[in-house]
Amino acid sequence: MPVDEILPMTEDDRAALWAAACGAVAYRADLDASAVKPDLRPAALASQFDGTLPDQGASAISVIEDLIAVAGKGLQGHASPRFFGYVCGGSMPVGAAADFLVAAWGQNAASSWESPFAAVVEQTVCEWCLELLHLPADCGVGIVSGATVANTQGIITARDALLARQGWETGENGLFGAPHIPVIIGGAAHSAPMAGVRYAGLGLGRATYLETDNQGRILISALQKALAECNKPPLVVLQAGQINTGAFDPFAEAIPMVHEAGGWVHVDGAFGLWAHAVPELRDRLAGVDSADSWAVDLHKWLNAPYDAGLCIVRDRSALVSSMSARGAYLPELGKTWEPSDSTLELSRRARGIPSYAIIRHLGAQGVRAMIVRHCALAVYLSDRLAAEPGISIMNEVVLNQVAIACETDEVTTKVLERIQQRAQVYPSHGVWQGRQIIRVSIINHATDKADIDLLFDEILEAHRAVR
Ligand SMILES: Cc1ncc(COP(=O)(O)O)c(C=O)c1O
Repeated sequence: MPVDEILPMTEDDRAALWAAACGAVAYRADLDASAVKPDLRPAALASQFDGTLPDQGASAISVIEDLIAVAGKGLQGHASPRFFGYVCGGSMPVGAAADFLVAAWGQNAASSWESPFAAVVEQTVCEWCLELLHLPADCGVGIVSGATVANTQGIITARDALLARQGWETGENGLFGAPHIPVIIGGAAHSAPMAGVRYAGLGLGRATYLETDNQGRILISALQKALAECNKPPLVVLQAGQINTGAFDPFAEAIPMVHEAGGWVHVDGAFGLWAHAVPELRDRLAGVDSADSWAVDLHKWLNAPYDAGLCIVRDRSALVSSMSARGAYLPELGKTWEPSDSTLELSRRARGIPSYAIIRHLGAQGVRAMIVRHCALAVYLSDRLAAEPGISIMNEVVLNQVAIACETDEVTTKVLERIQQRAQVYPSHGVWQGRQIIRVSIINHATDKADIDLLFDEILEAHRAVR
């Protein structure tokens, strides 16, 4: 493109922005009727792109049109109400719309001096989330890219605080020669907090893994034994929402025991912590609010567009002291609410704004009603399936996850393959209690009873076909 055509905003740019918005609307409008899995795998898709570095530029509108033309063949139906794989929120349209603006505004949300708007909206969404999640209003909150980073930040903060209790300042001294911190973690924990333990330099090989029951909940007797063996204040990682079963650790019993030992409790609540927003579900995770830090995703149950999650720490000063990296050109620490004081990143997109838009759109009541509806649909599906000969439900359905097994692992695998191949609905695979399972996660904002009936029919169709 000739240099003299580069203006802040050309007609071509305008056309590209419109085309992107129209393409987004068309994609979302078709979603309910389209297949939930991509037509092409990466290798086949790669052949659709010219692999060489373009020497000459192309018009903005042609770039966007080309992207839209090819995208449909390689997009997974993550946003579809019939997508039940992994644990994926549906990127609510109002959130996606706000995200367009975030990209167009191009704010660097690092500091309130840089972008007062981004800082104020993000502070508001953090306060709203604390209120919704029924956690103390004065917690520190960092808006991060997801639960893996949120867990990592929580664990790094815990590490620094626990070492400080032993008189060791990690920021200055690092970890070589530091006192020992015992790490205790449930045997059925997600890989994300395990990664956090690694990234924090605490060593997974040095951790104690607690025995769990058949839902993945830690055994209190195992925690008691592990705590008795600690000669230093430990870090204990618990979980709200086991990925296969949705189960919650016994917080009300476990957390006071850890505190008694001078330890820190971090909770991975990537999706399950959202149950704490709902008064009628809250007793299932009673006591979780007495932990020291929590990780929760916005792109899961809040249905925010990827990528967004929260690292929440009861002692805000502990979070800020572990995360903040101030240059002389930034506001003095503690004077204002600064997004980057609570995150590993300095420069970052204003990824809290789409979540603000979703909460503003649904209201607290709408968020709660969505969670209740998903949990009720999970019970409805499991009750229907449990009545079918040859199909077993492998979990107590306490949340939105349903773990399904057929007569043998071989049948389960073939049933899942056939369902995914037909692409009407998309559950994913898991392994639970040594068995292959079909894992269903009901979490998309638009999923309704008709989608669950279709999922049930598809499971039955595949089961009859492969037996
Ligand atoms: C229980 C749990 N923890 C952590 C994660 C990781 O979350 P993210 O992929 O947002 O980093 C997940 C993802 O599904 C999860 O289910």
